[in-house]
Amino acid sequence: MDVNEAGAVPDMSKVAYQLPQPGGMLADIFVGGGIDLDGGDPREWVPQTADVSFRPLILCVSQGYYINILRVRAAGVLSRHRHSGPVHAFTLRGTWRYLEHDWVANAGDYAFEPPGETHTLVVPDGVDEMATLFHVTGGYTYVDPYGKALGYEDVFTKLAAARRHYEAVGLGAAHADRYLR
Ligand SMILES: [Fe+2]
Repeated sequence: MDVNEAGAVPDMSKVAYQLPQPGGMLADIFVGGGIDLDGGDPREWVPQTADVSFRPLILCVSQGYYINILRVRAAGVLSRHRHSGPVHAFTLRGTWRYLEHDWVANAGDYAFEPPGETHTLVVPDGVDEMATLFHVTGGYTYVDPYGKALGYEDVFTKLAAARRHYEAVGLGAAHADRYLR
């Protein structure tokens, strides 16, 4: 039985892990205020159009996924796209839906989007802001209503957009790299 300097047996349940972490392990990421929609540096939000922006939380190029908050400040059809991988969506504010489903996502709701699905994201009339945390594995292809490919997005296009934006607003392109793993 170990005894500490004060002669007492330490409570091992409160002792931090004492050994080195495994070799090759990636560094952790901590984003203070990462899902705070109203605080923080507004330059963190990467604009995609005049009304759409995203805030990265992790850009995991090593596993081909990313987690970001998508913020939309206009009603209407946002995009029609087909996913190659799964998506987990946690709605933080506002309302949105897919034309292909009868459910409507509101703040506090969770949705799973299966790999292979094509859907059309809509922010209903009267909603002036929606914000949703999306965990997106793989990529998605923008398509017309009959599946013809029009463009694509993945963790690498997100990283490129973030680097361009952070450079343009004075944070420096390397600011995006804090979200990289
Ligand atoms: Fe989607």
